[in-house]
Amino acid sequence: MKKRIVFTGGAGKAGRHVVPYLVDHGYEVLNVDLVPLNHPGVNTLIADIADSGEMFNALSSHFGFEGFETGKGPAPIDAVVHFAAVPRVLIKPDNETFRINTIGTYNVIEAAVKLGIRKVIIASSETTYGVCFAEGDKDFHQFPLEEDYDIDPMDSYGLSKLVNEKTARAFAMRTGADIYALRIGNVIEPHEYDRFPAFLADPMSRKRNAWSYIDARDLGQIVDLAIRKDGLGFQVFNAVNDTITATIPTQEFLAKYCPNVPIRRKLGEFEGPLSNRKTREVLGFREEHDWRKYVPVK
Ligand SMILES: NC(=O)c1ccc[n+]([C@@H]2O[C@H](COP(=O)([O-])OP(=O)(O)OC[C@H]3O[C@@H](n4cnc5c(N)ncnc54)[C@H](O)[C@@H]3O)[C@@H](O)[C@H]2O)c1
Repeated sequence: MKKRIVFTGGAGKAGRHVVPYLVDHGYEVLNVDLVPLNHPGVNTLIADIADSGEMFNALSSHFGFEGFETGKGPAPIDAVVHFAAVPRVLIKPDNETFRINTIGTYNVIEAAVKLGIRKVIIASSETTYGVCFAEGDKDFHQFPLEEDYDIDPMDSYGLSKLVNEKTARAFAMRTGADIYALRIGNVIEPHEYDRFPAFLADPMSRKRNAWSYIDARDLGQIVDLAIRKDGLGFQVFNAVNDTITATIPTQEFLAKYCPNVPIRRKLGEFEGPLSNRKTREVLGFREEHDWRKYVPVK
C-alpha cells in the first residue's frame, strides 16, 4: 500500500519540488493550498490553514474521486507535511505573518493529532537562528549552528517559526506523536545556481543565510527520510546541504569573516556553518546536489 500524505503549501517554491519527489518515491499526495499545484496525480484542495474547521476537514478527506470506489470513506492518512506559510517578512504586515504562521501551524498539528495521524513534519526555518531578518549586523552566538542553539529571532516571521517549534513540541508531548521540525535553509531551485557566482564574489552578502542553502530536490529527500523515520517524538533537524557556499575551507573562512564568533567544535573542511550533521547521522541524509556540481569554481 502506498503511504498517504497530506502536504500543505505544495504549490509553493519548495513544495513544487518536494511533492514530485514524494510522488516519485511511491507516496500518494493530497496538496492543501490556496492555489493549485499542477502535477499529475496530485489533487489540490483549496483550503486556508488559518481556519481550523477547514484543516479538520482537509485531513479527513478523500484525495480524489478514486476514493469513492471502496465505499468505506476516506482511507487513513500516514503523515502530514506542513509547508504552507507566509514565507518571509515584507509580504504581508508583520501581524498577519505571525498570525497565519502560528495559528496555521497550530491548526494543522491539532487537526492531525486529534484525527489520529501519528507523524507530522513542519517547515521551520534558518531564520530562527536570529540573524537572517535581524535589524543591523548581528553576529551568531557560535558556530556551527546546530539544533541545540539558543534561537532568538527578533523579526515576526522568525518568531512565528520559533513559536511553531514550541507548538509542535507541546503536541508531541501531549499525544506521543512524532512531530519533526525542519529548520530549512535558503531554498535553491535547479535554475537558481546562476546566483552562486555573485554569492562567492561577495561573501558577506550570504552572512544572513550562514553561507548555507538547501537544494529543493535534496529537501525532498530529507522530507522522505523524516516520514520514514519513526519513534523520535519531537525533533528539530537542520535541512541544509553539506557544504559552505565559499571556496576556502570553513574554519579559515569564519576566522576571516566572523573573527569574534566562537567555534564550538572542529568543523569538517567545507562543512556548512549551519550544519546538517544531525540530519545526516539520524535520518541518513546523503546530499545529491552539492552546488559545486552546477557552479564553476575558479
Ligand atoms: N524558501 C525558503 O528559502 C525557505 C527557507 C526556510 C523556510 N521556508 C519555509 O518553507 C515553507 C515553504 O516555503 P516556500 O518558499 O515554498 O514558500 P511559498 O510562499 O513559495 O509557498 C507557500 C505556499 O503556502 C501557501 N499558503 C500561504 N498561506 C496559506 C494559507 N493561509 N492557507 C493555505 N495555504 C497557504 C501558498 O499559496 C504557497 O503555495 C514555508 O513554511 C517557509 O516558511 C522557506
